[in-house]
Amino acid sequence: MVSGVVWRFGLALILVHVAALTMIASPPSCPPECICLSQTQVLCNSGGLREIPVKLLPATVEHLSLTRNHFPVIRSDAFSGLRALKKLSLDGNNISIIKPFAFRGLPRLKEISIQQTTLATVAQFSFAGLQNISAIYLSHNRIKKVEGYAFAGTTNLKLLVLSNNPIVKIESNAFSGLSIVERLTFPSGVRLLEPDCFNGLDTVGYLKLAYMDLPFVGNGTFRGLTNVGVLSIQESDLGVIRPGAFEGLTFINNLNFLNNKIDSIQEMMFGPEQRIRNVKFQGNHILDIPKIDSIYFAVNKLTVIANHFPCDCHIHALLEGPLTNDSVYEFTARNFCISPLEYNGRPMNELDFDSIGRCQEEVTRSNLESRDLPSNTSKNNYSVLIVTLTITTLAWTRIQLGLV
Ligand SMILES: *[C@@H]1O[C@H](CO)[C@@H](O)[C@H](O)[C@H]1NC(C)=O
Ligand SMILES: *[C@@H]1O[C@H](CO)[C@@H](O)[C@H](O)[C@H]1NC(C)=O
Ligand SMILES: *[C@@H]1O[C@H](CO)[C@@H](O)[C@H](O)[C@H]1NC(C)=O
Ligand SMILES: *[C@@H]1O[C@H](CO)[C@@H](O)[C@H](O)[C@H]1NC(C)=O
Ligand SMILES: *[C@@H]1O[C@H](CO)[C@@H](O)[C@H](O)[C@H]1NC(C)=O
Ligand SMILES: *[C@@H]1O[C@H](CO)[C@@H](O)[C@H](O)[C@H]1NC(C)=O
Repeated sequence: MVSGVVWRFGLALILVHVAALTMIASPPSCPPECICLSQTQVLCNSGGLREIPVKLLPATVEHLSLTRNHFPVIRSDAFSGLRALKKLSLDGNNISIIKPFAFRGLPRLKEISIQQTTLATVAQFSFAGLQNISAIYLSHNRIKKVEGYAFAGTTNLKLLVLSNNPIVKIESNAFSGLSIVERLTFPSGVRLLEPDCFNGLDTVGYLKLAYMDLPFVGNGTFRGLTNVGVLSIQESDLGVIRPGAFEGLTFINNLNFLNNKIDSIQEMMFGPEQRIRNVKFQGNHILDIPKIDSIYFAVNKLTVIANHFPCDCHIHALLEGPLTNDSVYEFTARNFCISPLEYNGRPMNELDFDSIGRCQEEVTRSNLESRDLPSNTSKNNYSVLIVTLTITTLAWTRIQLGLV
Protein backbone atom coordinates (compact mmCIF):
# COMPACT_ATOMS: atom_id res chain seq x y z
CA MET A 1 0.00 0.00 0.00
CA VAL A 2 2.60 2.48 1.20
CA SER A 3 5.04 1.62 -1.61
CA GLY A 4 2.17 2.11 -4.10
CA VAL A 5 1.64 5.64 -2.81
CA VAL A 6 5.36 6.37 -3.06
CA TRP A 7 5.46 4.99 -6.59
CA ARG A 8 2.51 7.07 -7.70
CA PHE A 9 4.04 10.17 -6.09
CA GLY A 10 7.28 9.48 -8.00
CA LEU A 11 5.39 9.15 -11.26
CA ALA A 12 3.64 12.44 -10.60
CA LEU A 13 7.03 14.10 -10.07
CA ILE A 14 8.33 12.72 -13.35
CA LEU A 15 5.25 14.02 -15.14
CA VAL A 16 5.82 17.48 -13.63
CA HIS A 17 9.42 17.38 -14.87
CA VAL A 18 8.33 16.41 -18.36
CA ALA A 19 5.77 19.20 -18.35
CA ALA A 20 8.44 21.65 -17.25
CA LEU A 21 10.77 20.47 -19.99
CA THR A 22 8.14 20.91 -22.68
CA MET A 23 7.44 24.41 -21.36
CA ILE A 24 11.11 25.34 -21.71
CA ALA A 25 11.21 23.76 -25.15
CA SER A 26 8.15 25.72 -26.35
CA PRO A 27 8.85 29.31 -27.48
CA PRO A 28 9.07 31.47 -24.35
CA SER A 29 6.69 34.36 -24.00
CA CYS A 30 8.12 37.73 -24.88
CA PRO A 31 6.24 40.93 -25.73
CA PRO A 32 6.76 41.82 -29.42
CA GLU A 33 8.22 45.25 -28.53
CA CYS A 34 10.85 43.70 -26.27
CA ILE A 35 14.03 41.72 -26.50
CA CYS A 36 14.12 38.80 -24.13
CA LEU A 37 17.81 38.06 -23.67
CA SER A 38 16.68 35.25 -21.43
CA GLN A 39 13.66 34.41 -19.35
CA THR A 40 15.20 36.47 -16.58
CA GLN A 41 16.41 39.47 -18.56
CA VAL A 42 14.09 41.55 -20.72
CA LEU A 43 14.74 44.83 -22.49
CA CYS A 44 11.83 46.93 -23.70
CA ASN A 45 13.71 50.11 -24.49
CA SER A 46 12.30 52.64 -26.95
CA GLY A 47 9.61 50.11 -27.75
CA GLY A 48 6.86 52.69 -28.17
CA LEU A 49 4.97 50.97 -25.35
CA ARG A 50 1.97 52.76 -23.86
CA GLU A 51 1.11 50.04 -21.38
CA ILE A 52 3.33 47.91 -19.23
CA PRO A 53 3.02 44.48 -20.89
CA VAL A 54 2.82 42.59 -17.61
CA LYS A 55 0.74 39.71 -19.01
CA LEU A 56 3.19 39.02 -21.85
CA LEU A 57 6.37 39.21 -19.78
CA PRO A 58 7.87 35.95 -18.54
CA ALA A 59 6.89 35.55 -14.89
CA THR A 60 10.51 34.64 -14.23
CA VAL A 61 11.91 38.04 -15.28
CA GLU A 62 14.52 39.38 -12.86
CA HIS A 63 15.91 42.36 -14.77
CA LEU A 64 13.41 44.48 -16.64
CA SER A 65 14.25 47.62 -18.51
CA LEU A 66 11.41 49.77 -19.83
CA THR A 67 13.29 52.94 -20.73
CA ARG A 68 12.08 55.58 -23.19
CA ASN A 69 8.49 54.47 -23.65
CA HIS A 70 5.27 56.37 -22.95
CA PHE A 71 4.00 55.70 -19.48
CA PRO A 72 2.47 58.89 -18.16
CA VAL A 73 0.80 57.01 -15.31
CA ILE A 74 2.20 54.13 -13.29
CA ARG A 75 -0.93 52.75 -11.75
CA SER A 76 -1.28 50.81 -8.51
CA ASP A 77 0.00 47.23 -8.68
CA ALA A 78 1.37 47.96 -12.17
CA PHE A 79 3.86 45.10 -12.03
CA SER A 80 1.95 42.59 -9.99
CA GLY A 81 2.73 39.02 -10.88
CA LEU A 82 6.42 39.67 -11.59
CA ARG A 83 7.41 38.14 -8.28
CA ALA A 84 10.95 37.32 -9.39
CA LEU A 85 11.76 40.91 -10.40
CA LYS A 86 14.98 42.23 -8.85
CA LYS A 87 15.87 45.22 -10.95
CA LEU A 88 13.57 47.63 -12.76
CA SER A 89 14.36 50.64 -14.90
CA LEU A 90 11.78 53.15 -16.01
CA ASP A 91 14.24 55.84 -17.09
CA GLY A 92 13.43 58.28 -19.83
CA ASN A 93 9.65 57.94 -19.70
CA ASN A 94 7.22 60.82 -19.48
CA ILE A 95 5.94 59.65 -16.11
CA SER A 96 3.80 62.30 -14.52
CA ILE A 97 2.34 60.27 -11.69
CA ILE A 98 3.09 57.15 -9.73
CA LYS A 99 -0.03 55.92 -8.00
CA PRO A 100 0.02 54.61 -4.42
CA PHE A 101 1.43 51.10 -4.11
CA ALA A 102 2.51 51.09 -7.78
CA PHE A 103 5.19 48.52 -7.04
CA ARG A 104 3.27 46.31 -4.68
CA GLY A 105 3.74 42.57 -5.00
CA LEU A 106 7.44 42.70 -5.89
CA PRO A 107 9.00 41.03 -2.85
CA ARG A 108 12.43 40.57 -4.44
CA LEU A 109 12.81 43.97 -6.05
CA LYS A 110 16.21 45.33 -4.99
CA GLU A 111 16.76 48.26 -7.26
CA ILE A 112 14.52 50.69 -9.08
CA SER A 113 15.58 53.51 -11.33
CA ILE A 114 13.25 56.30 -12.42
CA GLN A 115 15.52 58.97 -13.85
CA GLN A 116 15.31 61.50 -16.67
CA THR A 117 11.53 61.56 -16.44
CA THR A 118 8.93 64.30 -16.01
CA LEU A 119 7.91 63.08 -12.57
CA ALA A 120 7.12 66.15 -10.46
CA THR A 121 5.76 64.70 -7.22
CA VAL A 122 6.73 61.67 -5.21
CA ALA A 123 3.21 61.08 -3.99
CA GLN A 124 2.04 59.41 -0.79
CA PHE A 125 2.72 55.67 -0.74
CA SER A 126 4.31 55.70 -4.25
CA PHE A 127 7.03 53.34 -3.14
CA ALA A 128 5.20 51.87 -0.20
CA GLY A 129 5.55 48.23 0.67
CA LEU A 130 8.80 47.46 -1.13
CA GLN A 131 10.18 45.53 1.82
CA ASN A 132 13.26 44.26 0.03
CA ILE A 133 14.29 47.31 -1.97
CA SER A 134 17.82 48.51 -1.35
CA ALA A 135 18.24 51.34 -3.85
CA ILE A 136 15.87 53.88 -5.37
CA TYR A 137 17.36 56.21 -7.96
CA LEU A 138 15.27 59.31 -8.60
CA SER A 139 17.77 61.82 -9.91
CA HIS A 140 17.31 64.10 -12.93
CA ASN A 141 13.56 64.26 -12.69
CA ARG A 142 11.35 67.31 -12.14
CA ILE A 143 10.50 66.41 -8.56
CA LYS A 144 9.30 69.48 -6.69
CA LYS A 145 7.97 67.79 -3.61
CA VAL A 146 8.12 64.58 -1.67
CA GLU A 147 4.85 63.87 0.07
CA GLY A 148 4.44 62.26 3.48
CA TYR A 149 4.78 58.48 3.67
CA ALA A 150 6.02 58.21 0.07
CA PHE A 151 8.41 55.46 1.14
CA ALA A 152 6.37 53.85 3.89
CA GLY A 153 7.43 50.33 4.64
CA THR A 154 10.60 50.30 2.53
CA THR A 155 12.54 49.18 5.56
CA ASN A 156 15.61 47.85 3.79
CA LEU A 157 16.39 50.84 1.64
CA LYS A 158 20.07 51.67 1.74
CA LEU A 159 20.37 54.27 -0.96
CA LEU A 160 17.94 56.96 -1.99
CA VAL A 161 19.17 59.35 -4.62
CA LEU A 162 17.19 62.50 -5.17
CA SER A 163 19.89 64.69 -6.66
CA ASN A 164 19.24 67.00 -9.60
CA ASN A 165 15.62 67.71 -8.91
CA PRO A 166 14.01 71.09 -8.28
CA ILE A 167 12.79 70.07 -4.81
CA VAL A 168 11.69 73.14 -2.92
CA LYS A 169 9.77 71.59 -0.08
CA ILE A 170 10.13 68.51 2.07
CA GLU A 171 6.84 67.71 3.68
CA SER A 172 6.20 66.33 7.15
CA ASN A 173 6.91 62.61 7.42
CA ALA A 174 8.26 62.45 3.85
CA PHE A 175 10.77 59.78 4.83
CA SER A 176 8.75 58.04 7.46
CA GLY A 177 9.35 54.33 7.44
CA LEU A 178 12.87 54.54 6.08
CA SER A 179 15.35 52.86 8.34
CA ILE A 180 18.89 51.63 7.97
CA VAL A 181 19.53 53.96 5.06
CA GLU A 182 23.22 54.20 4.33
CA ARG A 183 23.16 57.46 2.50
CA LEU A 184 20.54 60.05 1.79
CA THR A 185 21.34 63.09 -0.28
CA PHE A 186 19.09 65.88 -1.35
CA PRO A 187 19.23 68.17 -4.33
CA SER A 188 20.14 71.80 -4.03
CA GLY A 189 17.66 74.60 -3.64
CA VAL A 190 15.38 73.23 -0.92
CA ARG A 191 13.46 76.22 0.41
CA LEU A 192 11.23 74.73 3.06
CA LEU A 193 11.71 72.00 5.60
CA GLU A 194 8.36 71.37 7.21
CA PRO A 195 8.15 70.39 10.86
CA ASP A 196 8.72 66.65 11.32
CA CYS A 197 9.95 66.30 7.73
CA PHE A 198 12.55 63.76 8.87
CA ASN A 199 10.26 62.13 11.40
CA GLY A 200 10.41 58.35 11.39
CA LEU A 201 13.77 58.30 9.65
CA ASP A 202 15.72 55.90 11.79
CA THR A 203 19.30 54.72 11.47
CA VAL A 204 20.91 56.63 8.67
CA GLY A 205 24.60 56.35 7.95
CA TYR A 206 25.05 59.68 6.29
CA LEU A 207 22.46 62.37 5.84
CA LYS A 208 23.63 65.38 3.92
CA LEU A 209 21.60 68.54 3.55
CA ALA A 210 23.39 70.94 1.27
CA TYR A 211 22.74 73.98 -0.90
CA MET A 212 19.47 74.81 0.84
CA ASP A 213 18.03 78.27 0.73
CA LEU A 214 15.89 78.49 3.85
CA PRO A 215 14.33 81.57 5.37
CA PHE A 216 14.36 79.75 8.72
CA VAL A 217 14.79 76.43 10.44
CA GLY A 218 11.63 76.12 12.47
CA ASN A 219 10.50 74.37 15.61
CA GLY A 220 10.38 70.60 15.15
CA THR A 221 12.26 70.46 11.84
CA PHE A 222 14.49 67.62 13.00
CA ARG A 223 12.04 66.05 15.42
CA GLY A 224 11.88 62.27 15.17
CA LEU A 225 15.18 61.87 13.33
CA THR A 226 17.24 59.34 15.21
CA ASN A 227 20.39 57.21 15.02
CA VAL A 228 22.37 59.07 12.44
CA GLY A 229 26.07 58.47 11.86
CA VAL A 230 26.72 61.83 10.23
CA LEU A 231 24.18 64.60 9.85
CA SER A 232 25.79 67.31 7.81
CA ILE A 233 24.10 70.62 7.17
CA GLN A 234 26.32 72.47 4.79
CA GLU A 235 26.79 75.15 2.14
CA SER A 236 23.34 76.48 2.89
CA ASP A 237 21.56 79.63 3.80
CA LEU A 238 19.85 78.60 7.02
CA GLY A 239 18.19 81.95 7.66
CA VAL A 240 17.01 82.22 11.25
CA ILE A 241 17.42 79.22 13.51
CA ARG A 242 14.26 79.39 15.55
CA PRO A 243 13.59 77.98 19.01
CA GLY A 244 13.04 74.25 19.01
CA ALA A 245 14.72 73.67 15.63
CA PHE A 246 16.72 70.73 16.97
CA GLU A 247 14.19 69.53 19.49
CA GLY A 248 13.62 65.78 19.27
CA LEU A 249 16.77 65.07 17.27
CA THR A 250 18.42 62.15 19.03
CA PHE A 251 21.40 59.80 18.92
CA ILE A 252 23.58 61.60 16.41
CA ASN A 253 27.20 60.63 16.24
CA ASN A 254 28.48 63.61 14.26
CA LEU A 255 26.46 66.72 13.70
CA ASN A 256 28.16 69.13 11.32
CA PHE A 257 27.36 72.69 10.42
CA LEU A 258 29.75 73.48 7.60
CA ASN A 259 30.07 76.66 5.56
CA ASN A 260 26.57 77.93 6.11
CA LYS A 261 25.24 81.43 6.31
CA ILE A 262 23.10 81.93 9.39
CA ASP A 263 21.24 85.18 9.90
CA SER A 264 20.70 84.55 13.56
CA ILE A 265 20.45 81.80 16.12
CA GLN A 266 17.42 82.45 18.28
CA GLU A 267 18.04 79.17 20.02
CA MET A 268 20.34 76.19 19.62
CA MET A 269 20.00 73.72 22.44
CA PHE A 270 21.33 70.21 22.63
CA GLY A 271 20.34 68.58 25.89
CA PRO A 272 22.02 65.51 27.38
CA GLU A 273 18.94 63.38 26.65
CA GLN A 274 19.44 63.98 22.93
CA ARG A 275 22.72 62.05 22.99
CA ILE A 276 24.53 64.11 20.39
CA ARG A 277 28.19 63.08 20.49
CA ASN A 278 30.18 65.48 18.39
CA VAL A 279 29.20 68.85 17.05
CA LYS A 280 31.38 70.57 14.52
CA PHE A 281 30.70 74.15 13.70
CA GLN A 282 33.05 75.13 10.95
CA GLY A 283 33.31 77.78 8.26
CA ASN A 284 29.95 79.36 8.99
CA HIS A 285 29.07 83.03 8.71
CA ILE A 286 26.86 83.98 11.63
CA LEU A 287 25.50 87.46 11.06
CA ASP A 288 24.19 88.05 14.54
CA ILE A 289 25.83 86.81 17.70
CA PRO A 290 23.44 84.56 19.62
CA LYS A 291 22.39 85.50 23.11
CA ILE A 292 24.40 83.76 25.75
CA ASP A 293 21.47 81.86 27.24
CA SER A 294 20.02 80.78 23.91
CA ILE A 295 22.75 78.26 23.13
CA TYR A 296 23.57 75.15 25.04
CA PHE A 297 25.61 72.11 24.08
CA ALA A 298 25.49 69.04 26.29
CA VAL A 299 27.68 67.09 23.88
CA ASN A 300 30.90 65.10 24.11
CA LYS A 301 32.91 67.27 21.83
CA LEU A 302 32.28 70.69 20.42
CA THR A 303 34.54 72.05 17.71
CA VAL A 304 34.10 75.66 16.65
CA ILE A 305 36.62 76.73 14.06
CA ALA A 306 36.98 79.00 11.05
CA ASN A 307 33.66 80.69 11.63
CA HIS A 308 32.96 84.35 11.06
CA PHE A 309 31.10 86.49 13.57
CA PRO A 310 30.45 90.19 13.74
CA CYS A 311 32.91 91.58 16.26
CA ASP A 312 30.49 94.11 17.65
CA CYS A 313 29.37 94.86 21.16
CA HIS A 314 27.89 91.34 21.44
CA ILE A 315 31.34 89.80 21.15
CA HIS A 316 31.64 89.69 24.92
CA ALA A 317 28.58 87.49 25.18
CA LEU A 318 30.06 85.21 22.54
CA LEU A 319 33.38 84.89 24.33
CA GLU A 320 31.70 84.20 27.64
CA GLY A 321 29.23 81.77 26.09
CA PRO A 322 29.38 78.02 25.49
CA LEU A 323 30.78 78.23 21.94
CA THR A 324 34.28 78.92 23.23
CA ASN A 325 34.26 75.92 25.57
CA ASP A 326 36.24 77.93 28.09
CA SER A 327 39.14 78.49 25.79
CA VAL A 328 38.81 82.05 24.61
CA TYR A 329 42.42 81.94 23.54
CA GLU A 330 41.86 79.12 21.04
CA PHE A 331 38.48 80.39 20.00
CA THR A 332 39.70 83.85 19.10
CA ALA A 333 42.73 82.45 17.29
CA ARG A 334 40.66 80.14 15.14
CA ASN A 335 37.58 82.21 14.36
CA PHE A 336 37.21 85.43 12.42
CA CYS A 337 35.51 88.79 12.40
CA ILE A 338 33.00 89.92 9.79
CA SER A 339 32.81 93.44 11.15
CA PRO A 340 33.96 96.11 11.81
CA LEU A 341 34.96 96.52 8.23
CA GLU A 342 38.66 96.89 8.87
CA TYR A 343 38.65 93.55 10.72
CA ASN A 344 36.62 91.66 8.14
CA GLY A 345 38.23 88.27 7.56
CA ARG A 346 40.84 88.74 10.28
CA PRO A 347 41.25 86.45 13.27
CA MET A 348 39.39 87.64 16.31
CA ASN A 349 42.50 87.76 18.41
CA GLU A 350 43.78 90.71 16.39
CA LEU A 351 41.06 92.76 18.00
CA ASP A 352 41.41 94.61 21.25
CA PHE A 353 38.25 93.44 22.96
CA ASP A 354 38.54 95.96 25.73
CA SER A 355 38.08 98.67 23.15
CA ILE A 356 34.67 97.30 22.23
CA GLY A 357 31.94 98.47 24.49
CA ARG A 358 29.28 96.19 25.75
CA CYS A 359 25.82 96.32 24.35
CA GLN A 360 23.19 98.25 26.16
CA GLU A 361 20.90 95.21 26.43
CA GLU A 362 23.57 93.27 28.23
CA VAL A 363 23.52 95.97 30.82
CA THR A 364 19.83 96.46 31.17
CA ARG A 365 18.27 93.36 29.68
CA SER A 366 14.82 94.83 29.63
CA ASN A 367 15.82 97.80 27.55
CA LEU A 368 15.50 96.47 24.03
CA GLU A 369 15.16 99.74 22.18
CA SER A 370 18.80 100.64 21.90
CA ARG A 371 20.23 97.42 20.50
CA ASP A 372 23.67 98.58 19.55
CA LEU A 373 25.82 100.92 21.43
CA PRO A 374 28.26 102.57 19.10
CA SER A 375 31.30 100.33 19.10
CA ASN A 376 33.23 103.50 19.83
CA THR A 377 32.13 103.71 23.44
CA SER A 378 35.56 102.86 24.61
CA LYS A 379 36.94 103.27 28.06
CA ASN A 380 34.71 105.79 29.73
CA ASN A 381 33.34 105.94 33.21
CA TYR A 382 30.32 104.05 31.85
CA SER A 383 32.14 100.78 31.24
CA VAL A 384 32.88 100.22 34.88
CA LEU A 385 29.19 100.01 35.51
CA ILE A 386 28.73 97.69 32.49
CA VAL A 387 31.37 95.27 33.63
CA THR A 388 29.96 94.85 37.11
CA LEU A 389 26.44 94.47 35.83
CA THR A 390 27.38 91.88 33.23
CA ILE A 391 29.32 89.80 35.65
CA THR A 392 26.22 89.58 37.79
CA THR A 393 24.10 88.67 34.76
CA LEU A 394 26.60 86.06 33.69
CA ALA A 395 26.66 84.39 37.06
CA TRP A 396 22.89 84.31 36.99
CA THR A 397 22.84 82.78 33.51
CA ARG A 398 25.33 80.12 34.46
CA ILE A 399 23.26 79.13 37.44
CA GLN A 400 20.23 78.92 35.17
CA LEU A 401 22.08 76.66 32.77
CA GLY A 402 23.40 74.51 35.57
CA LEU A 403 26.97 75.35 34.68
CA VAL A 404 27.95 76.19 38.22
C1 LIG B 1 3.47 60.99 -22.92
O1 LIG B 1 3.83 60.75 -24.22
C2 LIG B 1 2.74 60.29 -25.05
C3 LIG B 1 3.28 60.00 -26.40
O2 LIG B 1 4.15 60.98 -26.83
C4 LIG B 1 1.68 61.33 -25.10
O3 LIG B 1 0.59 60.87 -25.84
C5 LIG B 1 1.25 61.64 -23.73
O4 LIG B 1 0.32 62.70 -23.73
C6 LIG B 1 2.44 62.03 -22.88
N1 LIG B 1 2.00 62.22 -21.53
C7 LIG B 1 2.40 63.23 -20.80
C8 LIG B 1 1.84 63.30 -19.44
O5 LIG B 1 3.20 64.04 -21.21
C1 LIG C 1 14.58 39.57 -0.05
O1 LIG C 1 15.67 39.21 -0.85
C2 LIG C 1 16.36 38.06 -0.42
C3 LIG C 1 17.47 37.79 -1.37
O2 LIG C 1 18.16 38.94 -1.70
C4 LIG C 1 15.44 36.87 -0.33
O3 LIG C 1 16.13 35.77 0.21
C5 LIG C 1 14.26 37.21 0.54
O4 LIG C 1 13.34 36.15 0.52
C6 LIG C 1 13.57 38.45 0.03
N1 LIG C 1 12.49 38.84 0.89
C7 LIG C 1 11.24 38.64 0.57
C8 LIG C 1 10.23 39.17 1.51
O5 LIG C 1 10.95 38.05 -0.45
C1 LIG D 1 7.89 73.45 19.66
O1 LIG D 1 6.58 72.99 19.39
C2 LIG D 1 6.05 72.10 20.33
C3 LIG D 1 4.68 71.69 19.86
O2 LIG D 1 4.73 71.23 18.56
C4 LIG D 1 5.98 72.75 21.67
O3 LIG D 1 5.54 71.81 22.63
C5 LIG D 1 7.36 73.25 22.06
O4 LIG D 1 7.26 73.96 23.27
C6 LIG D 1 7.90 74.16 20.99
N1 LIG D 1 9.24 74.52 21.35
C7 LIG D 1 9.67 75.76 21.32
C8 LIG D 1 11.07 75.96 21.77
O5 LIG D 1 8.99 76.68 20.95
C1 LIG E 1 36.01 71.44 26.17
O1 LIG E 1 37.40 71.39 26.23
C2 LIG E 1 37.90 70.34 27.01
C3 LIG E 1 39.41 70.44 27.03
O2 LIG E 1 39.83 71.72 26.83
C4 LIG E 1 37.47 69.03 26.45
O3 LIG E 1 37.94 67.97 27.24
C5 LIG E 1 35.98 68.99 26.39
O4 LIG E 1 35.57 67.82 25.77
C6 LIG E 1 35.48 70.17 25.63
N1 LIG E 1 34.04 70.16 25.68
C7 LIG E 1 33.32 70.12 24.60
C8 LIG E 1 31.85 70.15 24.80
O5 LIG E 1 33.81 70.04 23.51
C1 LIG F 1 35.19 107.55 18.02
O1 LIG F 1 34.63 108.80 18.44
C2 LIG F 1 35.46 109.92 18.28
C3 LIG F 1 34.75 111.14 18.79
O2 LIG F 1 34.10 110.85 19.99
C4 LIG F 1 35.79 110.07 16.80
O3 LIG F 1 36.72 111.13 16.64
C5 LIG F 1 36.39 108.79 16.28
O4 LIG F 1 36.59 108.89 14.87
C6 LIG F 1 35.49 107.62 16.53
N1 LIG F 1 36.10 106.38 16.11
C7 LIG F 1 35.48 105.48 15.39
C8 LIG F 1 36.25 104.24 15.03
O5 LIG F 1 34.32 105.58 15.03
C1 LIG G 1 31.51 110.44 33.23
O1 LIG G 1 31.01 110.88 34.46
C2 LIG G 1 30.91 112.28 34.57
C3 LIG G 1 30.49 112.63 35.98
O2 LIG G 1 29.89 111.59 36.61
C4 LIG G 1 29.94 112.80 33.55
O3 LIG G 1 29.85 114.21 33.64
C5 LIG G 1 30.40 112.38 32.15
O4 LIG G 1 29.44 112.79 31.19
C6 LIG G 1 30.59 110.89 32.10
N1 LIG G 1 31.16 110.52 30.79
C7 LIG G 1 30.57 109.67 29.98
C8 LIG G 1 31.29 109.41 28.69
O5 LIG G 1 29.53 109.07 30.25
